[in-house]
Amino acid sequence: MNRLIVISNRVSAPTDSNSGAQGGLAVALSAALRENGGIWFGWSGEVTDKFDGHINFQRSAGVTSATIDLEAQDLEEYYNGYANRTLWPLFHYRIDLAEYEREFAGGYQRVNDRFADTVRPLIEGDDVVWIQDYHMFPLGEKLRERGCGNRIGFFLHIPWPPRRLLNTLPEAAELAKKMFAYDVIGFHTQEWLESFFDFAEKDLGATIHENGMVELGDRRVLALADPIGIDAKEFVEGANSPTARLAFRQMRDSAVGRDVIIGVDRLDYSKGLEERFRGYERFLDKHPEERKEVFLLQIAPPSRGTVESYQKIRSALEGLAGKINGAYADVDWVPIRYVNQGYPRDQLAGIYRAARVGLVTPLRDGMNLVAKEYVAAQDPDDPGVLVLSRFAGAAAQLGEGAVLINPYSAEEMSDAIVTALRMGREERIRRWRLMMDNVEKEDVIWWRKRFTDALMEEQTPAPLPE
Ligand code: G6P
Repeated sequence: MNRLIVISNRVSAPTDSNSGAQGGLAVALSAALRENGGIWFGWSGEVTDKFDGHINFQRSAGVTSATIDLEAQDLEEYYNGYANRTLWPLFHYRIDLAEYEREFAGGYQRVNDRFADTVRPLIEGDDVVWIQDYHMFPLGEKLRERGCGNRIGFFLHIPWPPRRLLNTLPEAAELAKKMFAYDVIGFHTQEWLESFFDFAEKDLGATIHENGMVELGDRRVLALADPIGIDAKEFVEGANSPTARLAFRQMRDSAVGRDVIIGVDRLDYSKGLEERFRGYERFLDKHPEERKEVFLLQIAPPSRGTVESYQKIRSALEGLAGKINGAYADVDWVPIRYVNQGYPRDQLAGIYRAARVGLVTPLRDGMNLVAKEYVAAQDPDDPGVLVLSRFAGAAAQLGEGAVLINPYSAEEMSDAIVTALRMGREERIRRWRLMMDNVEKEDVIWWRKRFTDALMEEQTPAPLPE
């Protein structure tokens, strides 16, 4: 069996897997590393005065991680700059927020060179390398330049934007060409995959073959749609744990008979939180009979707080929550409980289970695993209803069971909340079953295996079901 070298900006120690900061991705990749052996390489999360190539090795729960510190300027230009002020907004269709600065692009290349220099000596004979996400588009090519002939895969966890948007980036074509250094590249949905094909064909002059092979000159890459899932089994176990049961009881007690509507998101403009609050406000306005019967619990741990657009969304939400609460609250009821912290996974599972409605309404999202976690946490005999944005990658898999909405429309949001609150038990169970079947079948292990099989054997996986 080939060793696996996973490379991502953030490295998650597997012992943290229940800390709440952890997604299914960390769990899945740790499991793969335990099975195959190998290393998880990336940024330590620490800043150093002078980068000297030092690697911190750590071994925990059967997984070896290797991390490097970055200098303050690296962090500013690569992580805060190119990754989060250029690529993140652009790839989430927000060219109004995207900043195109040459220093950012330079810092991004420099840090990717650092990653390549330090990880290259760790890659042996027939190791298989798997690079994750938009922080590291050029890394495959940089490893090739350093003589790495191993199989290298790349997975993008955010959308690939339509070509007319991507073309606003000065170096769009160079960036996209770097995808051809990989053997296999993966996207969460057919839609992102097709946007990539479109750019490759129309802007680079590549040829797209039926089986997903894309050819550019003498280089070819297999591109596929491979939607990530959660570790459903583990999540359901967590939802039945004593911690989750306690959290469920406490939530229900504190709701004093009212229905809980829940949202859980990193505090990010792509998550559509302002639009969600406005949709909820519309609901309160149009349905006075529902006031005091429900409340919205919005959990939003702050994220990327040194970036201005994140500071702005944070204060906008504070203003909006304050305004709505001020306008509608009564001495014995507050319409929005707005919480800026994260919770451990099992506790969250209990809170999800206590919520009659799950609001997952991003304006654009590569996948969105909160939607899947909300489904997995439900009581099969009395499940809640998922209200899901049609612009989340997850809508391609959960669209039949969820109440799908356009998150830009306050009217649709308001109507969907009413539909969800009034939905009978039988209909809730029917819809939940449809979603849960998918969450169980296309779980994170299925996702990882589809990709690594393609990468290790160059097999084209079977097409996704319609
Ligand atoms: C998204 C990205 C990940 C990233 C995560 C948290 O899910 O796709 O690559 O790690 O957000 O963001 P952060 O900037 O804190 O790593």
